[in-house]
Order: sequence, then structure tokens, then C-alpha cells
Amino acid sequence: MSVRSTPTPERIKRKDPNRFHHPHQVDLIILHANELVTLDSKYGVPRVGKGMKNLATIQDGAVAISDNSIVFIGTTEELITKFPPNEETIIIDATNKLVTPGFIDPHTHIIFDGSRENELEMKLAGMTYIEILESGGGILKTIKATRKAPLTKLIKNGRTILNRMMEYGTTTIETKSGYGLDTESEIKSLLAAKELNLKHPIDIVSTFLGAHAVPPEYEGKTDEYVEQIVSEMIPRIAKGELAEFCDVFCEEGIFSTEQTKKILLTAIKYGIKPQIHIDEIVDSNGALLAAELNAVQVGHVLKSNDDGLVALSKSETIATLLPGTPFCLMLKDYAPARKMIEMGIPIALATDLNPNCWTESMQMIIALACYHMKMSPAEALTAATINAACAIGRQQEIGSLEVGKKADINIFNIPNHNFLPYQFGVNLISKVIKSGKVVVDFE
Ligand code: NIG
Ligand code: FE
Repeated sequence: MSVRSTPTPERIKRKDPNRFHHPHQVDLIILHANELVTLDSKYGVPRVGKGMKNLATIQDGAVAISDNSIVFIGTTEELITKFPPNEETIIIDATNKLVTPGFIDPHTHIIFDGSRENELEMKLAGMTYIEILESGGGILKTIKATRKAPLTKLIKNGRTILNRMMEYGTTTIETKSGYGLDTESEIKSLLAAKELNLKHPIDIVSTFLGAHAVPPEYEGKTDEYVEQIVSEMIPRIAKGELAEFCDVFCEEGIFSTEQTKKILLTAIKYGIKPQIHIDEIVDSNGALLAAELNAVQVGHVLKSNDDGLVALSKSETIATLLPGTPFCLMLKDYAPARKMIEMGIPIALATDLNPNCWTESMQMIIALACYHMKMSPAEALTAATINAACAIGRQQEIGSLEVGKKADINIFNIPNHNFLPYQFGVNLISKVIKSGKVVVDFE
């Protein structure tokens, strides 16, 4: 497999270079896409209910890119008339291929050191996630390793993950701290994310997750740890502009709804937007709390009660479903996606990449969403693109292929979107274009 920073250019010769003139210099064009999924925002942002199936596709589709943005989208015939290529234009032939917006992975935990492959045996022996955590494994094991790791190691680990994400078609992610759990280690983690955002082609939105677990030195003193988060960590992180979002693992035995509320109201006061891990293992009334706080997104939503789901359906909160987690925990239940779609709750999908659930592949998540949550391929693709953009507040810039939006585009070696979950467990990417540049090329 190769990841290249520049494509092999295919150039066109034209007899009279002045015959066509257009204000835009067109740098790259994609022609003849068998199916071009635009997810045009005129059909709704976020997409909800039946609208999630509307991909707004174009047959024999074409896209023109100037610098880092899309300047035209339509059929190949229209593009050739309006934006005739010149000798500098890079041309990509997408005959027989599917073209979509780049995947957005709106819930990940990529900043950590170490791994937890040993826990699979424990899970197979019947131990639950909380039992593994209580025995000193799980998040606590990762905290030990992450606290010890220098910033450079966290950056190196993150880069390896981002490279693989990009090979699988992810062009923007959200990622969190949460394996430091003391002020300096949390700041170190957010600095790693900041550095990666500057240096790696993938765009990264940062979240402070100091309330991911109660660190060992605060065992039995959760309220005191919450006090440290609100009085010390949040003010320092806000001052350093290190996080756009604040997240809490709101779950029985971790952080209560009252503690979650205290943390998130403080974050809001400091201009940091709220999001929450809710109702992953048991129902803690997290969905009601999320709607009350107007959280931008909530993760998991496996066990939420009906009142909570109704509240979500009336709010603007995006429910980000993470089917990789029940898969890795070998649970029978997944989030009730069908019920949520029928209720009109906007759904996004994410990997939740973390040392318990380690996949870089949004293609895998789309397959799990279809096979375990009964989402249709079109609904899953919507959830991995435009709705995922909403989950991180980036719907104006990315998530759909429209004029003026960033040219973050996937070209797949398959003829249509139904193949995405159908041909599973392998990488279907042909090329990935990030900010107008070909960053992955498997052809
Ligand atoms: O979203 N549930 C809390 N946090 C992560 C898992 C973190 C871990 O196990 O390391 C999640 O699943
Ligand atoms: Fe998570």
C-alpha cells in the first residue's frame, strides 16, 4: 500500500489555450463517476428520517476543484463545457467508481500510549467492561502508559493512526484527551492533538475529556476530582485555547448526571461547547441531560429511555452511534438506530477508536451499522458524512460535495454506495483527496 502526497498527473493538450476563459483556475477534475454522492444541503442538514436515504446522487458525475475547494459539481458533460481543462489540470477518470464526500469521524480517542489486546481473553472469559476497569485494566491501564509517555511519543502514535484513517477515507476527525487525568497530562494530550492538526493532512477538532474516569489518586473522591476539573483544568485549557469541546463519560459508577452537568456548565461558561458519552452500559438519563444542555452531540446512546429519546428528537443534538464498541465488547444490543431514525433523531456514525475498540476504518463502521443496527447503506453513508459534520459543527465547510465547500473527496473502487457494506473487511478506497490534493492513491 502506498500513500503519496502527489498524484501522477494526466495532462490534456489543447490547441488554443485562450479559447476558454474562466475566472477559476481549475487544478483538478474528476470525470465520469458512475455514482457521485453529493448529499446536497438543499435536501436538509442534518438529514433526518426518510431524508437520511437521500444521497442526492449524480450519474456520470464530475467535480472541479480549484485550490482547496469545489468550484463545480454536475455531470461530466456540463463540466467539460463550463470548465474545460487546460494543460495544467489534473484529470481523474472515475469510470465505474463511487465518489463521495470524505468520511468524517466525529468521536475518537487517538491520543494514548500502549495497547490492551490482552483484554480480549478477559472478555472471552465473561468479564464486563466495568469489571475490567475495576480490576485496574481498561481506561486505568491506558492512563498509566499515557502519563509516562513524552509528548513526542503521543504525537508519533497519533500520526500512525491518522495515516491509516486517511488510507481508509477519513478526512476530518474529532479527538479527545482523557488518558491523562491530571492537568499536565491532559494538556500534554491536547498539545499532541494540536500538533497533529497542524502537521497532518487530516483536520482535527479537539475535545477535553478530563472526566473520562476517576484517576487512582482520587479513588472514592469523585466530587473532589470534579472540583479539580472545573476550578483548574477547564480554566487552563480555555486560556490555552486547547479544546473546542468538553466531553464527560456520564455513566453509572463513573460520573453522575449532576457531576456531568457541573462540568459542562463550567465549560460553557468558558466558551467550550458540550458533548457527552451517554447511556452506554446502563440508562443514566443521559439523553434528557444532553437535550437540556443543548449538547452538540452525544456518543453511544445504547440504553437511553424513551423520554430521553423524545427529548433528543426535539433538540438539535446529534446522536453519534458507535457500533464498534458493542462489537468489541461482544454485546448483544446495539443502539436502536431504526427507532431513532423513525423518531427523527439525526444520527451520525463514528469509530470511537480507543484502546478497547481499535479500528481506523469508517468503512468497517458502515458495515456494522448496516448488519447490526439495520441501517441502510445510504443512511449509514449520510451518517458518516454530512451528519457527522453536524456532530462537530462543521456542516458549513465539509460533509457534502457542493460549490464552495472544501474538496475532501473519496473515490472508491466500487460502482455504487450499496457496495460499501456489501464488500466488507477490505479497503475499497481508490483515491482520497484532502483539501484539493490527492493524499492517497492506490491505483
Ligand atoms: O467511548 N466509554 C468511555 N470511553 C471510551 C472507551 C475508553 C477506553 O476503554 O479506553 C468509549 O467507549
Ligand atoms: Fe468514546
